[in-house]
Amino acid sequence: MIPIKYHLDNVFEVNGEAFSSLEKLLALPFEESGEVFEFSDCVCRKFCGNGILLRGIVEFSSFCKNNCYYCGLNAGNKKLHRYRLTEKEILDAVKKVSETGIKTVVLQSGEDENFDWDKLSFVISEIKRSFDMQITLSCGEQEAKLYEKWKKAGADRYLLKIETSNKELYQKLHPGQSFDNRLECLRVLKKLGYQAGSGVIIGLKGQTLKDIANDIIFFSKEEFDMIGINPFIAHSESMLKDNSNGDPYLTIKAVALTRIITKNTHLPATTALGSIRKDKDLRILALKSGANVIMPNFTPYEHRKEYEIYPDKRCLSEGENIMDYLRSMAAEAGKVLDFSRGDTLKAMVNG
Ligand code: 5AD
Repeated sequence: MIPIKYHLDNVFEVNGEAFSSLEKLLALPFEESGEVFEFSDCVCRKFCGNGILLRGIVEFSSFCKNNCYYCGLNAGNKKLHRYRLTEKEILDAVKKVSETGIKTVVLQSGEDENFDWDKLSFVISEIKRSFDMQITLSCGEQEAKLYEKWKKAGADRYLLKIETSNKELYQKLHPGQSFDNRLECLRVLKKLGYQAGSGVIIGLKGQTLKDIANDIIFFSKEEFDMIGINPFIAHSESMLKDNSNGDPYLTIKAVALTRIITKNTHLPATTALGSIRKDKDLRILALKSGANVIMPNFTPYEHRKEYEIYPDKRCLSEGENIMDYLRSMAAEAGKVLDFSRGDTLKAMVNG
């Protein structure tokens, strides 16, 4: 067998396209990929330490104007009961995050056309006034002016996944949306001083191993502060309802290779990885293979089921003892929970 190191030394690209090596490593059966995971774990511990950073997520609106083929929140899904939290409800949820000692809250929503987005500025400034907390926003594509307002109000970071770096595939899966605009949004966010996160879904219909290799090359060029990689999970009320789920082990391989290539980027063990198998929380394997972040859910219980991006999210069964569970996960991965702010490790640090 060709040594893994040979492949890793031979990741090369022409005109922004990855060739052979990353693709070969992705194609290698899981059982034969031990060396990749050992290496990615070493790189993770060297550049990020043994800590697992924590981000509490609050999903504040499930309304969305888009029709992304994979997503259960697509506007065409009339069966879903939609909700929108009030400012007070958001702040109450953030208080719960803060009481655990977690110092980052992720405020996430669909692209809700009827949300009064200026209200979010108020929520952001209230969080900054009341809690010692970093704020990550994840509210999709918005006008640069709005991104700027939120930044001025105190937002620190923004997550906007590219979902796939293959423009043609992106256009097929996102009717009415533009790949170029998404890239432009990411550029604007960086320019405004946000710590910017992105990421992809593994196992999308029409996606090849070469596409995933190119995703990793894309990450290495864009120097994101965070990258979320999760397996596709089919939702019965979406266009991709008849497609099979993404391979969680290929997803973990993509996380491992992204760790090796990008070194100190924050990489979450995503909730989707934890949800794809009922019998096993695969986030633990991701944490052993290069991931260094977990994002526990703090959306009020009565609404958790309604933020149904994909079915059977593991957070539905997670309750008041979530911190004990996270601690046991960390121990199993040979790591410890890290309650620091967890800012970017890239050269650019704001504030
Ligand atoms: N399976 C896996 N991930 C999904 N997302 C949306 N729908 C699905 C799905 N069916 C992810 C997207 C989005 C994030 C909030 O959830 O990557 O950016």
